[in-house]
Amino acid sequence: DKFLSSQRTAFHFQPEKNWMNDPNGPMFYRGYYHFFYQYNPDAAVWGNITWGHSVSTDLIHWHPLNLAMVPDQWYDAEGVWSGSATVLPDGKPIILYTGLSNESVQSQNMAVPEDSFDPLLRKWVKVPQNPMLVPPPGIGYTDFRDPTTAWLESDRLWRIAIGAKEGTTGLALVYKTSDFLDWSLQSNFLHKVAGTGMWECVDFYPVSLTGTNGMDTSKVEVDLLVKHVLKASLYDNKHDYYTVGVYSGDFKTFIPDDPAKDIGLGLRYDYGKFYASKTFYDPAQERRILWGWVNESDSELDDLKKGWASVQTIPRTLILDRHTGSNLLQWPVHELESLRGDKVVFQDKVLDGGALVKVDGASGAQLDIEVSFKYPDVHKLYLPEQKEYECSQGGATLRGVFGPFGLLVFAADNLVEQTAVYFYLTLRPDGKWVTTVCSDQSRSSLATGIDRTVYGTAINKSPTENFLSLRLIVDHSIVETFVQQGIACITSRVYPTIAIDRDAHVFLFNNGSESITMQTLQVWQMSSA
Ligand code: FRU
Repeated sequence: DKFLSSQRTAFHFQPEKNWMNDPNGPMFYRGYYHFFYQYNPDAAVWGNITWGHSVSTDLIHWHPLNLAMVPDQWYDAEGVWSGSATVLPDGKPIILYTGLSNESVQSQNMAVPEDSFDPLLRKWVKVPQNPMLVPPPGIGYTDFRDPTTAWLESDRLWRIAIGAKEGTTGLALVYKTSDFLDWSLQSNFLHKVAGTGMWECVDFYPVSLTGTNGMDTSKVEVDLLVKHVLKASLYDNKHDYYTVGVYSGDFKTFIPDDPAKDIGLGLRYDYGKFYASKTFYDPAQERRILWGWVNESDSELDDLKKGWASVQTIPRTLILDRHTGSNLLQWPVHELESLRGDKVVFQDKVLDGGALVKVDGASGAQLDIEVSFKYPDVHKLYLPEQKEYECSQGGATLRGVFGPFGLLVFAADNLVEQTAVYFYLTLRPDGKWVTTVCSDQSRSSLATGIDRTVYGTAINKSPTENFLSLRLIVDHSIVETFVQQGIACITSRVYPTIAIDRDAHVFLFNNGSESITMQTLQVWQMSSA
């Protein structure tokens, strides 16, 4: 089982052993980034959920601490479930989280640090007033969870949102309070969308239309230069959807700018394996940072053999795309670049139709790769495709005109294992070219019992950009792909059995019939964190 031990990541966040799921309560406090997570201390499968806890000064190197919270009260006896941290104006943090009671009822509870002068916040005390919130009339006992970070409005009341459902309508409830003890339910929902099912891990925050800095969660005054983002993790399809819109303090409700891009219909943070994410505002560097849980896609038996399951994405800086005002841009935090070591660079290489070029000096299972291609000259006459292209319809081996072209990573010398990340351009009947990006796991492993989905999405490439670019973060069993400046992300888990460590190679390829020019390729070896 040598290949199983080679799957452990080297610079992604994961506990030493056992099961992890959602990111919880991320915050910056007295010089440290705190990260909590849903954790089973006993096995590499979900169950007996506690809050694991680690601290870091750079979001990349982490120091594990003792469990922050365990099920030790009647109201959280069956699990200390997801929640968020809020740093109050006096500088002290609180945590709100969901408890699953000894009778499987979900309630919202509060914990405070025993000693708020301890920058490591090692001890958490559940307050005697718990449980604070129980499911209101009309909401099922098991459909009421995952409180957000609280935000403060001009009426001096704090508000939180909580995910729920009514029938098959997913929704976010709002509760308000002045003291975090006495709460009242607001009569209107923050938002709801029919047919989306239970909303887990709701997130709600402002973004700037003009600047590149993040905004504090409490920045909610009506301001034409501020938009709000609402995110819900859909229990029914296990994807994180977000929508950009306006939050009006007067109407106490969120209105998406584009109803066609509402939760469940429009944009996703990530088009691969990515769920139950959460953001926080980092006052030290004035940025909003996104964490996402990346589950395994191998068998439970393999997880038990490995002794661990799940990783977190590299934390991503998140901003509103100022050119469109309607989508977010995500990028790995700049601190990741401190792990970059030896580098190879290649420039201006024409990839003729059918080309396959091994990238010398770029082998390894810990890489940071940036590549750009010249946007092809699409002005000749081509035949439009009759049906919309889907990544799953043939993966990287389908032969088109412009593409598939891109990179193979975790590729064996003889290519029996390979993970392709590529672009594919299609001409629609209306004469418009569509750019699709895909991550193809179908040939990524000789192992059995693993997921082989080809993930992907069409991207909204701005017509003035004359290039197509990718950044790939490669770490043993994960590939995180960032497209253009972060307009789309695709995270996949891959489980190579022979293309491991120094036997994992990188290739450039073009399976289309037209030539493609690779502008610049940079590959860094990454150190372990
Ligand atoms: C999301 C979720 C949350 C819940 C937690 C339990 O993955 O189901 O809704 O609080 O995980 O571990």
